[in-house]
Amino acid sequence: MANSITITDNRTGECLEIPIADGGIDAQQWTKLLPGIWFFDPAFGATAAAASAITELDGERGILRYRGYPIEQLAQSSSYLEVAYLITHGELPSPAQFEDWRYEITHHTFIHENVRKRFMEGFHHDAHPMGMLVSAIAALSTFYPEAKNIHDPAVRQKQIIRLIAKMPTIAAGCHRFSVGMPFVYPDNSLDFAANFLAMMWKTAEPRFDANPVLARALDVLFILHADHEQNCSTTAMRVVGSAHADPYTATAAACAALYGPRHGGANEAVIRMLNEIAELENVDSYIAAVKRGETRLQGFGHRVYRSYDPRAAIIKETAHDVFEITGKNPLLDIALKLEEVALGDDYFISRELYPNVDFYSGLIYQAMGFPIEMFPVLFAIPRVAGWLANWVELLEQDARIARPRQLYVGNPPRDYVPIGERQ
Ligand code: SDX
Repeated sequence: MANSITITDNRTGECLEIPIADGGIDAQQWTKLLPGIWFFDPAFGATAAAASAITELDGERGILRYRGYPIEQLAQSSSYLEVAYLITHGELPSPAQFEDWRYEITHHTFIHENVRKRFMEGFHHDAHPMGMLVSAIAALSTFYPEAKNIHDPAVRQKQIIRLIAKMPTIAAGCHRFSVGMPFVYPDNSLDFAANFLAMMWKTAEPRFDANPVLARALDVLFILHADHEQNCSTTAMRVVGSAHADPYTATAAACAALYGPRHGGANEAVIRMLNEIAELENVDSYIAAVKRGETRLQGFGHRVYRSYDPRAAIIKETAHDVFEITGKNPLLDIALKLEEVALGDDYFISRELYPNVDFYSGLIYQAMGFPIEMFPVLFAIPRVAGWLANWVELLEQDARIARPRQLYVGNPPRDYVPIGERQ
C-alpha cells in the first residue's frame, strides 16, 4: 500500500498521486492538477501552515513535548530559563552554555528609562496591562533598530535574549503602573521567577525574597506556557515574521493575538465565570446554560486536544502546592465541581471538551495575589520563547511571505452609478 493519495479531477478525468510525508500532503502538488481550486479552511483546522521541529502535540493522546522532551519531565526537573534555551536552541544546554545563557538573560533585564518614564507612564491610569504590554513590546523595536538585520544570527540571538529578559520587567512595570506603585528595578541576584515576583511585590523593604514554593510554582507555570506549536498567537508571529518585520513588531502582533479571550485571555475569563457562578449550587444551572448555547465553559475545549490538556493536569497538582502556602482559593471547589459535572455530561464528552491550560492556572495566579487583568500577561511572559523559536525557524527555512488565497463570494462585475442616479 503506497503512502500516498490519488486525486482525480472529474471534469477532465486527470489523476495525480501525491505522497504523504510527515503526516501531510504538499498543497503545491494539488495545484498542479487543480489550479485555481483552493482548500477552504478559514481557521486552519485541517491545514498545516508550518513544518516545525519545536513542539509536538498529540491531541488524541494528550501528549506535549518540547524538542522531544515530555512536558511532564520538564515541569518536574527543569526550569523556565533552561526550557527557553531548549526551545530556542533545540538542545538542552551544557552547564557552561546554561551559565552563559543565565548571565546574558540576567544582564538584559533592564529596559530603557524612556520606555518606562515616557512611554509606559503615558497610559491612562486604568490601562489594561495586556494593552500596555503589547504596546511596550512594539515600542522596543524603536530602541533597537539593528533588530531589522533579521538574517544575521548574532543579531537575532541578541534580540531573543533581550525579549526573554525584558518581558518580566515590562510585565511587572505594567502592573505597578496600574496600581500606582513605583517601578521596581530588576534584582540580578535573583533567578527568573523570583526576580519577577520581586518586581511585582517589593514595597519598602530593601530586598524582596519570594516564597520559594511560590517562585517554583510560577516557574513551572512558565515552563508549561512556553510553547504550544501553531496556536493563534504563534501563527500571528509567523505571519508577521514572514513579512520580514523585526522580532519586536512580530512579537507585539503575537502578544495582541494572545490577548483574545478565546486564547490567552481565557484564564481571565475563567475567573470571571467562576465569580459569576459564585456558589456550588449554581453549577448545574450554569452547565445547562452552556448546553443551551447561551455561554461557554471558559477554560474548556481546545482545537487540538481531544482529551485532557496535559498542562491542566500538572497545573492542578501545582495548585495544591500553592494553596498550602496561600490558603485554598475558594473558587477551586466550584472549578472542581464544574469539571466533575462536565466530564460526566455527554454534551462535553461528545464534543471532546476537557479542561485546558487556562482552567486552573487563573486559580493559582489569583491565590498568589495577581489581579486577573495580569493573567494574560503571565501567559505572554514565557510564551515569548516559543514565539521567537518559531520566528527563527521560519527564517532559517526561508519561508515565503504568508499570503493565503480566498474563495470570492461577492458581487459579480457591475458598473458605477453616479450618486445623482442612485435610489
Ligand atoms: C489556549 O491553540 C492553542 O494551542 C492554544 C493554547 C496555547 O497554549 O497556545 O492551548 C492556549 O488558547 C487554550 C484555549 C483557551 N480558550 C478557552 O478556554 C475559551 C473557551 N474555549 C473555546 O472557545 C474553544 O474551545 C476554543 C476556542 C478553545 C476552540 O474552539 P474550536 O476548536 O474552534 O471549537 P469550536 O468553537 O468549533 O467548538 C466545537 C463545538 C461547538 O459546538 P457545536 O457548534 O458543534 O454544537 O464545541 C463547542 C462549540 O459550541 N464548544 C464549547 C466550548 N468550546 C467549544 N462549548 C462550551 N464551552 C466551551 N468552552
